[in-house]
Amino acid sequence: MAAHQGFGHDPTGDVTPRSKRRPTVAHTEATVAVAADPEISQMSEAELIEGVNRLRVERDAIILAHNYQLPVIQDLADFVGDSLQLSQQAAQTDKPLIVFCGVHFMAETAAILSPDKTVLIPDLEAGCSLAASVTAEEVRQWRAEHPDGVVVSYVNTDADVKAESDYCCTSSNAIEVVQSVPADKEILFLPDMFLGLWAERVSGRKLNLWLGECHVHAGFRPEDVIRMLDEFPDADLLLHPECGCVSQCMYHIAEGDIPADRSHVLSTGGMVRYARETEAPVAIVGTETGMLHRLRKENQRTRFIPLREDAVCEYMKAITLPKLYRALRDGVYEVRVPEDTAARARAAIDRMLATVPG
Ligand code: 13P
Ligand code: SF4
Repeated sequence: MAAHQGFGHDPTGDVTPRSKRRPTVAHTEATVAVAADPEISQMSEAELIEGVNRLRVERDAIILAHNYQLPVIQDLADFVGDSLQLSQQAAQTDKPLIVFCGVHFMAETAAILSPDKTVLIPDLEAGCSLAASVTAEEVRQWRAEHPDGVVVSYVNTDADVKAESDYCCTSSNAIEVVQSVPADKEILFLPDMFLGLWAERVSGRKLNLWLGECHVHAGFRPEDVIRMLDEFPDADLLLHPECGCVSQCMYHIAEGDIPADRSHVLSTGGMVRYARETEAPVAIVGTETGMLHRLRKENQRTRFIPLREDAVCEYMKAITLPKLYRALRDGVYEVRVPEDTAARARAAIDRMLATVPG
C-alpha cells in the first residue's frame, strides 16, 4: 500500500489532515427555516406524516432514504437502501420528482443518473466528512503524479471528484471494481483509506490510498470489538468496510482471536440481506446507529446491538420530518449538477454499473 500524504495547507500555517475536514450542520438554513415557519412549527408529528403522504401524491414524488436515516423517515420512504441501491432506484424511477433523504453526494448521484428528473434534498447542508476529504483539484494533482494511474472513487465523493475519476465504486462492489481494472494498471483509490485497505487485502490488488476517513466509522477501534465479544461471546460481528478497525479485525480473524465464521464485512445493504437470513441470537453492528432500526425491522428474532452507541452521523440526522415536509411543500432544495460535470461523473458510475450490474 502506498499512501498519499493527503494533508492540507492553510495560510495560518496550520496543517490539517484532509480527514479532519468536517462540514458543520449545527445551524443550517433548513433548520432555521422550519423552526421559524408559522405552519410547520405548529404541526404535530402525525400532521407532518399526513402532510408528507398527501404532498407525495400531489407532487407525484418518490421518497428515497438511506439506511442511516431517522426511523420516522425510513418508515415514510418509498424505498430504503444503501448507496448503490439508491442510485439504481433513482435511475429507474418513472416519477418526475425524487426527494432524497440522505446526504448531499447521494442526492447528487441521483441527479447525475436522472438528469431529466427534479431531485430535492430536505437540507442542502447535509454533507459528509469523507466526501469533504478530497477535492477535484487534489485528484487532478494526484493523477498528474501518476499519469498512467486508474482513479477509482468511492461513491462518497462530490460530483466534480467523480468527474475526475475512471471508476466509481460503493462499499458493496469495491472489491469487484478494483479486480476489474487491468492487472498492469496502477490504481489510485480514494478517498476512504479503511475501505481501501480492506479492498486491497481481499482483492490482492495493490492500491495507492488517499488518506481520507469518515469521522463516524474511523471511531471504531479493535478494543470496542474485543470488549463487545467478551460481553456477547455468541454474537455475530458485522462491520462496515469504512470502520477504522477493519484491517486489525481481519488480522485478529486470521489469528483465530475473532471467530471467522461469525464475522462479516458488509455494506449497509449487505447487512440488510444478512438480517433476512441469519439465525444468530445476537449480532453486534459496527456502523452508524441508524442501521439498527432497519435491521430490527427486518428481523425480530435476532438481537442487534450497536458496536458503539455514539456512532451517529450528524449529516444523516440533519434530515428531519419537518424538513421533509417543507421539501415537498416548497420544492426545496433542488440538487443540480452542471451537465458537463454530470456527463463525466456518469461515465465513472456507468463503468461501475457495467462491471458490477448490482
Ligand atoms: P453504504 O453504501 O454501505 O450504504 O454506505 C454509505 C455510507 O455513507 C457509509 O457511511
Ligand atoms: Fe459520510 Fe460517514 Fe456520514 Fe456515511 S456516516 S454519510 S461516510 S460522514
